[in-house]
Amino acid sequence: MTTLERDKKYLIQCYTTDDVVFSKGKGIYMYDENGKKYLDFSGQFSACTLGHGNEEMIEALKEQLEKLVSVTSCFATEERAALAEKMVEISPDGLDKVMFGCTGSDANEFALKLAKYFRGGGRIISFRRGFHGSTAGAAAATGKSEMIQENSGISELLPRGFVHSAPPYCYHCDFGKEPDTCGMQCLKYLEQTMLHEGGDRIAAVISEPIFAAGGVIVPPKGFWKGVRELCDKYGALLIFDEVVTGIGQTGSMFACQYEGVTPDILVTGKGLTSGYVPGSAILCRRQIGEAMSKISLHGHTHSCYPLTCRSALKNLEIIQRENLVENSQVVGEYLHKKLLALKDKYDVVKDVRGRGLLQGIEIEGSQNTDKFALGQELYETMLRNGLITELESRKNLENVVVVMHPALITSKENVDEAVEIIDKSLSACLK
Ligand SMILES: Cc1ncc(COP(=O)(O)O)c(C=O)c1O
Repeated sequence: MTTLERDKKYLIQCYTTDDVVFSKGKGIYMYDENGKKYLDFSGQFSACTLGHGNEEMIEALKEQLEKLVSVTSCFATEERAALAEKMVEISPDGLDKVMFGCTGSDANEFALKLAKYFRGGGRIISFRRGFHGSTAGAAAATGKSEMIQENSGISELLPRGFVHSAPPYCYHCDFGKEPDTCGMQCLKYLEQTMLHEGGDRIAAVISEPIFAAGGVIVPPKGFWKGVRELCDKYGALLIFDEVVTGIGQTGSMFACQYEGVTPDILVTGKGLTSGYVPGSAILCRRQIGEAMSKISLHGHTHSCYPLTCRSALKNLEIIQRENLVENSQVVGEYLHKKLLALKDKYDVVKDVRGRGLLQGIEIEGSQNTDKFALGQELYETMLRNGLITELESRKNLENVVVVMHPALITSKENVDEAVEIIDKSLSACLK
């Protein structure tokens, strides 16, 4: 049996698996078992911040493997204390307490618990098209309905008390408005939702600052300031899920810093450890963190492992030393401009959105092409041509978006190579 056959035979195929078997990676490139080279513009769901096979990371992890790997959350370690201090240093002012997790999902779970505990219960409001993970609370907050919510059976596992408001998605405005004249209906709708769902008894509003998996939805300027004001007005906590957007992906350490809006709780994961080991973090205001102290309401066996903390510390050290957040901003802008040129060239490329090295292109069909079929064909053609991206394509949400969140080490030359493949693939699909 080939690796792929063995994989398909034994692994629960709950993910769609492409017919590629990867066997090694170096920098921004990955190689399949036949030695074919691929440019990794998915960053493995934006986790691989430093790219693959970073020697310094490997050395630090080897050293830590020999020193100490597994220590439960009941004990302090030098690595955990150092990372906690570092996280507070790199985060927006006012976020002074930290806890660590294993994945973005469990970190969001903790954020929701923190909010509910601090507020003494109340509803959680999130946005349609937002994504927060696959554990119960995180999935309930997720606003992509044909995922768990619509699946009879699994949906019974979801907790109650989650309400989805209208997303700030100008390209597909739920109210049929145009950005210049809309008066930010989505913000008004959020206030109505808050009032209907408990007013000053709402526990929290949770969202990604830029909706990544929803199709790189960048809210209009001023939206988050408005949300912050509404949260303050009704006493609800604001939780930013920066599992994708955090750690430099959007050209600032955290995406919320771009608009100068500080949440009460901030969650990050994926790129925190550069994907070398699983890890995530939750930051919050001192008062919220201290309220939760010593009550054993959350913890995972592996969540504060020194190996995880060391990986995050080394990753952050390299990111800061090499100015990779700035690189994300500069190269991201370059990528954005080159994608805009594709929009001018191809009618089916309708919108280009993103900030830093988180970018997406919205695809529409043409007279004789269905956009969902086109999106799938484009994704597969790009993969065959050596470019890894992520395709967000959901019939009930009516959007097809090619999402890119490559490593922060991406260069302008890498962008040229990627855009050339996208161009060539689009042209092949439209023949
Ligand atoms: C915004 C966001 N939050 C949370 C998660 C869940 O993270 P994990 O897959 O590490 O559980 C994801 C995963 O894609 C995500 O995109």
